[in-house]
Amino acid sequence: MKRTKTILDENDIPKQWYNIQADLKTPLDPPLHPQTKQPITPDDLKAIFPMGLIKQEVSTDRYITIPAEIREIYRIWRPSPLYRARRLEQVLKTPAEIYYKWEGGSPSGSHKPNSAVAQAYYNKKEGIERLVTETGAGQWGSALAFSTQLFGINCRIYMVKCSYEQKPYRRILMQTWGAEVYPSPTTLTNAGREILKKTPQTSGSLGISISEAVEDAATHDNTNYALGSVLNHVVLHQTVIGLELKKQFEILGKYPDIICGCVGGGSNFAGTAFPFVHDMIRGKKPDLKVVSIEPLACPTLTQGDYRYDYGDTAGLTPLLKMYTLGHDFVPSAIHAGGLRYHGDSPLLSKLTKDGYMDALAYTQQEIFQAAMLFARTEGLIPAPESAHAIRAAIDFAQICKKRNEKKIIVFTNSGHGHFDLGAYDDYHHNKIPNGEYKKIEEQAS
Ligand SMILES: Cc1ncc(COP(=O)(O)O)c(C=O)c1O
Repeated sequence: MKRTKTILDENDIPKQWYNIQADLKTPLDPPLHPQTKQPITPDDLKAIFPMGLIKQEVSTDRYITIPAEIREIYRIWRPSPLYRARRLEQVLKTPAEIYYKWEGGSPSGSHKPNSAVAQAYYNKKEGIERLVTETGAGQWGSALAFSTQLFGINCRIYMVKCSYEQKPYRRILMQTWGAEVYPSPTTLTNAGREILKKTPQTSGSLGISISEAVEDAATHDNTNYALGSVLNHVVLHQTVIGLELKKQFEILGKYPDIICGCVGGGSNFAGTAFPFVHDMIRGKKPDLKVVSIEPLACPTLTQGDYRYDYGDTAGLTPLLKMYTLGHDFVPSAIHAGGLRYHGDSPLLSKLTKDGYMDALAYTQQEIFQAAMLFARTEGLIPAPESAHAIRAAIDFAQICKKRNEKKIIVFTNSGHGHFDLGAYDDYHHNKIPNGEYKKIEEQAS
């Protein structure tokens, strides 16, 4: 019988995270203070982040040790399996090999606890009693609710209003792990009240919820803010995905030709890709294709500008150099709530700008078609966010078929869609808005 899964032992959970800042040809442009527009100092960040995470944010050490307490918790779901999507390959009749790294087996159902556990750990170590955050689809909020519960920290979550309404079970999950959850914008913060005054009917956005959470953290004692993506330390924590993946390909005696993943703020895909981009930078695999996949409804990398912008809507966060659609951009209320973010990780943005990574965008119809084919061949029901990566993997496999090329394609299947069944129901009832379909050949240079 042929192998479907490549599974590592618990002792193979990485002992160090990989920090790509050590290998950049030129350093990242520094984050700027929102008022003075001068580079921020670690002291500026102390109001909302613990020093342990601030040090990681600016570190240029190539490897950073993962504390044993974090690895102990990672053992609940890590290492995550690498699957070969044989049934999908058969249906597509492609000579390509399709693999996916399955992050949906964590307690909250996605890659997000890889960072949430680490963030709860460093905050607890510095005596923080309460963490505040935002969540889009609810995946990050549930990951932080789970993680804070394990460390005995209180948790408040500002959940983007349209997701709060679309995904009641995500809210219940967060409440089950002990978090308070509010539909954002709320009347609890100045930022929320201002936005409600201007646009009372707003469906909310990640940028708005971040403003609320940052304000809450900055104005309450013993409270810090936690961000589920974008920042360097979050990307760092997610490199456990790519480090495991490398080991799994070593066991198979193979190396991927194409790596793709969905990008909201960039954490799952950067975490997957950066250990491989390290090889590209070293000249070991110059022709590797590393492709970010985003929704056409929020096409940050494919249509945004590379410039300084705020991370939130109200302009409370430092300015980051990144691809952005503008901090006041409010994307339409697509089901892939975790991809509705105007900006992107500065590290992923820089590596895209510098030519190591590419990007493609898809409509919601296209990604749900791919999710359906995947569910009906591989069995697993992906989150709508992850379905973006599946769409691209299928399209790449079809191109391989046309060209009769036996490429190795791998994508990160970042989470399950069990709390997104309302979205699938909308798809079954033809309620997902149609969109222009740009074929991958037309988009790719
Ligand atoms: C399942 C899933 N995948 C991907 C993302 C996008 O986030 P990131 O780009 O940080 O991985 C999210 C965000 O909520 C998510 O829930």
